[in-house]
Amino acid sequence: MRLAVVPGDGIGPEVVAEGLKVLRAVAPDVEATPYDLGAARWHRTGELLPDSVLDELRQHDAILLGAVGDPGVPSGILERGLLLKLRFELDHHVNLRPAKLYDGVRSPLARPGEIDMLCVREGTEGPYVGNGGVLRRDTPHEIATEVSLNTAFGVERVVRYAFERAVARPRKHLTLIHKTNVLTHAGSLWSRTVEEVSAEFPEVTVAYQHVDAATMFFITDPSRYDVIVTDNLFGDIITDVAAAVTGGIGMAASGNLDVSGTNPSMFEPVHGSAPDIAGQGIADPTATVLSVGLLLDHLGRPELAKKVNAAVAFDLSTRDPKATIRTSEIGDRLAALSG
Ligand code: NAD
Ligand code: IPM
Ligand code: MN
Repeated sequence: MRLAVVPGDGIGPEVVAEGLKVLRAVAPDVEATPYDLGAARWHRTGELLPDSVLDELRQHDAILLGAVGDPGVPSGILERGLLLKLRFELDHHVNLRPAKLYDGVRSPLARPGEIDMLCVREGTEGPYVGNGGVLRRDTPHEIATEVSLNTAFGVERVVRYAFERAVARPRKHLTLIHKTNVLTHAGSLWSRTVEEVSAEFPEVTVAYQHVDAATMFFITDPSRYDVIVTDNLFGDIITDVAAAVTGGIGMAASGNLDVSGTNPSMFEPVHGSAPDIAGQGIADPTATVLSVGLLLDHLGRPELAKKVNAAVAFDLSTRDPKATIRTSEIGDRLAALSG
């Protein structure tokens, strides 16, 4: 297994070290190559993601990424020039984000019930494409646009993937989350696509919610969700809510998938570089470890993924919720439990 590792910024290197610890415990054959990308490189050389590095990354089976973003770099430089460039160049059209409330984990909700959802977020379109511009900058009449791009091809492939995941799960339920009452052009494309593809999956029941109502139901009735399919920006927002109600952002995993297998898929925690706690050794590495689980599943090693997930489930059921997290202690424990 040839793995490219991009630790990145802030707590990225701290949590990635623990993810690798666990990966090595279950898959000693892993050959991990670190790539120095992120704020430090940008400060040193002005580079974000040189083509030569991108070409090298393409030669790997998968990528493990920590986080990017730094208070000393203008907002958007690293996010667009590195993270989104990776997702777009490597055609990561599915951004897979499970959210599960594990036994022993306290949700802030009054009545959380069982939460086990799988958000299939579109990854290469929507308002993320950078299709926009500014006119009359720095004048009182400045105009800024950010146009959401939605293609039939792009919507169909992510919707189809969501149906495939839904049909393989016990509840076989899929919810489209959008804002079809306002974003009528893109909304219509998404709704029609879901309707068309649903004909091929008669076992899957389908629901629709506007994104504003959905954020409310994530808090008041999250157990209604099974698989969710949604656009890039809505998916970004609702998966932070889903993380919060299932124990916190330190436990939310993700996979950026090129489902066709042409390019390596990339696995990363949902959270960012957390500059407020970086360097203190107190970041929760669980999200990264669960992302390693997704990586193993994706690379056709479900038995190893099961070991990693079982280790996390056991650890969470025995964690003292009041104890301060030590990043490396959790990694040690999870590696020992998985290996
Ligand atoms: P963030 O996720 O970094 O932090 C939000 C809050 O969650 C902070 O209080 C942080 O301490 C806490 N937190 C995050 N991860 C944690 C963990 N593993 N354990 C414990 N606490 C954790 O989001 P932000 O503050 O909005 O963004 C900070 C920077 O990260 C920005 O530059 C942003 O663009 C970037 N970012 C990058 C990614 C990514 O690389 N995928 C994702 C989100 C944000
Ligand atoms: C995430 C992040 C990224 C996103 C940013 C940093 C580009 O918030 O991975 O959730 O919006 O997708
Ligand atoms: Mn986000």
